[in-house]
Amino acid sequence: MYRTPVVTVDPCAPNPAAIGRAAALIRRGGLVVFPTETVYGLGANGLDEAACRRIFAAKGRPADNPLILHLPGLAALPALCRELPDLAHTLFEAFSPGPLTLVLKKSALVPAAASGGLDTVAVRIPDHPVALALLRACRLPVAAPSANLSGRPSPTALSHVRGDLDGRVDLFLDGGPCRVGLESTVLSLAGEVPTLLRPGGISLEQLRAAIGEVAVAPSVTAPLAPDAAPAAPGMKYRHYAPQAPLVLLVGPQDRVLAYMRAHLADRRVGILCYEGEQDLFSAATAVEVLGAPGDNEAHAHRLFEALHRLDRAALDCIYAPLPSSEGLGLAVRNRLLKAAAHTVIEV
Ligand code: TXA
Ligand code: MG
Repeated sequence: MYRTPVVTVDPCAPNPAAIGRAAALIRRGGLVVFPTETVYGLGANGLDEAACRRIFAAKGRPADNPLILHLPGLAALPALCRELPDLAHTLFEAFSPGPLTLVLKKSALVPAAASGGLDTVAVRIPDHPVALALLRACRLPVAAPSANLSGRPSPTALSHVRGDLDGRVDLFLDGGPCRVGLESTVLSLAGEVPTLLRPGGISLEQLRAAIGEVAVAPSVTAPLAPDAAPAAPGMKYRHYAPQAPLVLLVGPQDRVLAYMRAHLADRRVGILCYEGEQDLFSAATAVEVLGAPGDNEAHAHRLFEALHRLDRAALDCIYAPLPSSEGLGLAVRNRLLKAAAHTVIEV
């Protein structure tokens, strides 16, 4: 028996009554799960300290991990930040609505709960008709982290959300599967040099083509030293983790495949692989295919769905190849490294 009501909406043309109901809940301080083009978000009034705190409680999220404020367009942006650099305009014009989040110096309007006590605020304009309709109807910035329990894989379909958040939120809007499948790219414009804090739906190559120099925060590819202060607080926690330990393999593809085949016996093993390879793993308990080799968009789209499916197979261990860092591959690699707590074997 589920406890939180579900309203199904047409992802292209959402029913205004459903959107009105969801917006009224958010305006009253409630929590609403809604689809975006990246992953499902857990939304609340981003200007209301108490509503933001309810997000942290529902997710079991550490209070120092700030939230992204979602807007339907640029009109509300100047009120939320102290400085609006030209680069922000350039980037939002190039990539919004879309999977890009910018970190800017915050104004006094942004409550401390939304910014995790930092002096900055993260903002994005999602590219999804349901999210945009909801944001317009709310007439407020909507704070929305991914709609998963803290530490678990992000949800790309409502079925993933329900297992984590049923009974903890006021309403689910079901708009079907998310197109991108990985969260937005987070880029900070609050320091000297634009800095990539989290790779996502907009690639590093796209950012550099638009604005030139972009630095990459070390936490994107390397494990953090235990006492280091990360640029994006979210990057310090173990993340995206399926229940079974995940081990990543790096080396020539034939050796990676041979290693995985040699480790299937006597345990419940799950395999993440590419199209054309699945027949090698008929002895595995579960096999998930990410897409054709090199098709980073397909891998991004399927990764979290694959991790959720592997979770349901009660596995002892999961093996996956370490992806390349080209294009969206960098984001897939980053999520897999976090999910594996940086367990990588060279073969
Ligand atoms: O695609 C997405 O971005 C999804 C959808 C729902 O929009 N949202 C999402 O939110 O992924 P969340 O909370 O799961 O991840 C936000 C990330 C975290 O790593 C957080 O630390 C970082 O953005 N972040 C938020 N505000 C920040 C700030 N002021 N400075 C640095 N990092 C920030
Ligand atoms: Mg998240």
